[in-house]
Amino acid sequence: MQADQRKWWKEGIVYQIYPRSFQDSNDDGIGDLRGIINRLDYIKSLGVDIVWLNPIYASPNDDNGYDISDYQSIHPDFGTMADFDELIQKMHQKGLRLVMDLVINHTSDEHIWFQESKKSRNNPYRDFYLWWPAEKGKPAARYSYFDVNNDAWQYDVHTDSYYLHYFSVKQPDLNWENPKVREAVYDMMRWWFDKGIDGFRMDVISYISKDTNFPELPKKYNGNFLPFYAQGPTIHQHLQEMNRKVLAHYNCMTVGEAPGVGLKEALDFVDEDRKELDMFFHFDLMELDRKPGEFFTMRQGGFKLSEFKKIHTDWDAVFSKKGWGSIFLSNHDFPRPVSRWANDHPKYWYHAATMLHTFLLSMRGTPYVYFGDEIGMTNVRFDKIDDYRDIGTLNAYQKTIKEGGNLQDFFANHKESSRDNARVPMQWNADKYAGFSGVTPWIPNNPNFINGIHVAAQEKDQTSVLQFFKKMVGIRKKHLTLVYGQYEILEPDHEQIYAYKRFDDRNIFLVVLNFSDTVSEFHLPAETQEAHFEIILSNYETSDHEINPEKICLQAYQAMVCKINT
Ligand code: GLC
Ligand code: CA
Repeated sequence: MQADQRKWWKEGIVYQIYPRSFQDSNDDGIGDLRGIINRLDYIKSLGVDIVWLNPIYASPNDDNGYDISDYQSIHPDFGTMADFDELIQKMHQKGLRLVMDLVINHTSDEHIWFQESKKSRNNPYRDFYLWWPAEKGKPAARYSYFDVNNDAWQYDVHTDSYYLHYFSVKQPDLNWENPKVREAVYDMMRWWFDKGIDGFRMDVISYISKDTNFPELPKKYNGNFLPFYAQGPTIHQHLQEMNRKVLAHYNCMTVGEAPGVGLKEALDFVDEDRKELDMFFHFDLMELDRKPGEFFTMRQGGFKLSEFKKIHTDWDAVFSKKGWGSIFLSNHDFPRPVSRWANDHPKYWYHAATMLHTFLLSMRGTPYVYFGDEIGMTNVRFDKIDDYRDIGTLNAYQKTIKEGGNLQDFFANHKESSRDNARVPMQWNADKYAGFSGVTPWIPNNPNFINGIHVAAQEKDQTSVLQFFKKMVGIRKKHLTLVYGQYEILEPDHEQIYAYKRFDDRNIFLVVLNFSDTVSEFHLPAETQEAHFEIILSNYETSDHEINPEKICLQAYQAMVCKINT
């Protein structure tokens, strides 16, 4: 890796905060900016460098802030602009950077632009959105994530037209082919950069470009609309323009959420020479345990470790010469990683959670850690519809009832797949509401916080998941090889163990992870059998290790990082 390609956002670790659920400071049951300010020492103590906040803007909260009614104001639930200014100032003082969520595929229907747009067909804001006059008949079908009928066209009687909404009916899609929309968005972005923010995470950025003739969905996309949505004709033109007009003028980082973008298209978005984005989140891993094309239905029989490994290996290869990857196991849209990718049974929980930390922090690419994962928070698995808050789950419930579907299956799926699994309050201590708030939170706590899954207990215990997380952060920070070094998978077909080397001219590391609940063996590559192994981290007592020249024997969910000295 050449020195001139080093970047702070490649070496940094991102900590994602869902502000509604992090820390309530004024006992209204909702997390807020003051709560984050009060927890900055904790965030800093993790060793992370960059904080990404989910949307904190004015919003009617149809989709918890992803439906923005004013891009330049703070939702009163979260506090004031003065609180925001204080937050960013204090973060910068502590050497933390701030990345904001940029939601520009759509706005809220309560945004002034849409309020105007729907008034008449010749309103100056009409073309800010995507309207289809009803006299032309019903437009070709488009899929909506958050519509009970999955229909992305909403008829509006006032102007006898349909408008497009890829997400909820309260999230109309902006018309990116209108230069006025683009300029308005760029102005807003500059305004935030001038306030001092350090970057944007761009919500469903792959979807912003649409063929506004709205042809029938080409046959090959039937059943899987994601690639179609992600391959709009003008997507790269828009991203290059945004880069030229805004991003290039700031020392910032960008990470796009990119459903539908595959290995083949990846570099078109993040090849440095194209001047578009720095990184993006692909969806291959997030779809691995789901029924194809279905967001909330779990795949029968689960996933195979060889598939999990192939996804990471293929994506690493794409960015090995150009561009840069992002490594994440969870976020606010997906369940908790220890429950999803490993095992949250109390017998295995500690080893499973620390094994995943070892993975996340030893791969090439920028690691993204979702709040609460550092202490091994697990899926809450609500079994009553009243406990759920997410529009995705609530709509799916209505749909199931409407279609006479099986509610038992519905709950079986949502207990594992609902986005609310990751949205319950942060677990700070053993107080009534886990230290999140003094009153009933906006969404119920996971009652398991009392079993030591909280910060206070884990800060005291040197052998906790949290302490292990910090140690692993320290190891990544100490060895640039773990950031920039090459990645080479060993035994790709092994269904229990994920083993890989990370190396450069200076160091060779071997990472060996048992993703199973059984003792498993891994055979060392011949060329390393003579080498001297130094175990620099393990989630079992070192004496439990059995390293002989040929094979390593790993306990359930055991993780090891070794330095190989040849
Ligand atoms: C993204 C967000 C998700 C939101 C959707 C619509 O996928 O991560 O939370 O519901 O976009 O904005
Ligand atoms: Ca509050």
